[in-house]
Amino acid sequence: MSDSPEHQPPENTLKQLEEAGALSHFASSIAHEVCNPLSQIVLATDFLANPRPLSDDMRKKIVGYLRQGAERIDKAMKSMLRTCAPIETSMTQESASALLDDALATLTLDPSVRVEKHYADGLPPLLADKKHLTEAIAHLIANALDAMQPAGGTLTLTTSLKFFESSEREGWQRQSWFRAGDHAVVIEIADTGHGIHNSKMPLIFEAFYTTKAAGHGAGLGLTVTKKIVDLHHGRLELSNRPEGGVLVVLTLKTAAHP
Ligand SMILES: Nc1ncnc2c1ncn2[C@@H]1O[C@H](COP(=O)(O)OP(=O)(O)O)[C@@H](O)[C@H]1O
Ligand SMILES: [Mg+2]
Repeated sequence: MSDSPEHQPPENTLKQLEEAGALSHFASSIAHEVCNPLSQIVLATDFLANPRPLSDDMRKKIVGYLRQGAERIDKAMKSMLRTCAPIETSMTQESASALLDDALATLTLDPSVRVEKHYADGLPPLLADKKHLTEAIAHLIANALDAMQPAGGTLTLTTSLKFFESSEREGWQRQSWFRAGDHAVVIEIADTGHGIHNSKMPLIFEAFYTTKAAGHGAGLGLTVTKKIVDLHHGRLELSNRPEGGVLVVLTLKTAAHP
């Protein structure tokens, strides 16, 4: 867990990422996203440089390859830059259940996945950046859906109210804190998937850590999600459920008690 005393200090991260294969995965993702289109561009350029006459059709095809390759590199670089860029927020009062439903609506659900909703009635609103928090929740749900493939399973979405009787602050992380008397809305996303190996728990929020095949996951989702939750001064916890699968607990202060 991110707030447990066993959480590895950040200076160990690079070494751990290396051991977990995250750095070599990052290198192979770069190779996949940049080097492949680059070799396509080099090949097409060599072809154009050849003094042989070219039909209009052939020239069109080669220029198409060049453009396609350049666009792929541009897309990959932009997505990496977006991950590192500061996030601008605009806070409004939002309902937790509406955010969950909006996030779910952006995803394609496999028929093998059953969705259960347990939304508490009359919850106070959250002060949230709707666009970014919906994206963050969608990402957490997408991870849950990925973990349940190919067999499928049950996705359980829950909302509830929490009252803090005493102050709570996460160890060395100063972004999230709750004071005595704070009210918070708790969003839970539970899946019945393969879970997370305990030894890998300290790595899941690190950029480029992924257990997914190249092209399926860049390992940036939880990094960005954590950044968004931090901007809300909220708390994001992932743990393995005793019955299997992962439980994500997202705790966010209510708008009425900032
Ligand atoms: N609900 C989940 N169940 C199992 N593993 C998960 C879950 N959520 C995250 N993970 C693990 O954390 C890793 C990092 O997640 P993320 O940052 O979203 O990157 P990505 O989805 O691109 O792999 C995933 O590759 C996976 O191993
Ligand atoms: Mg992900």
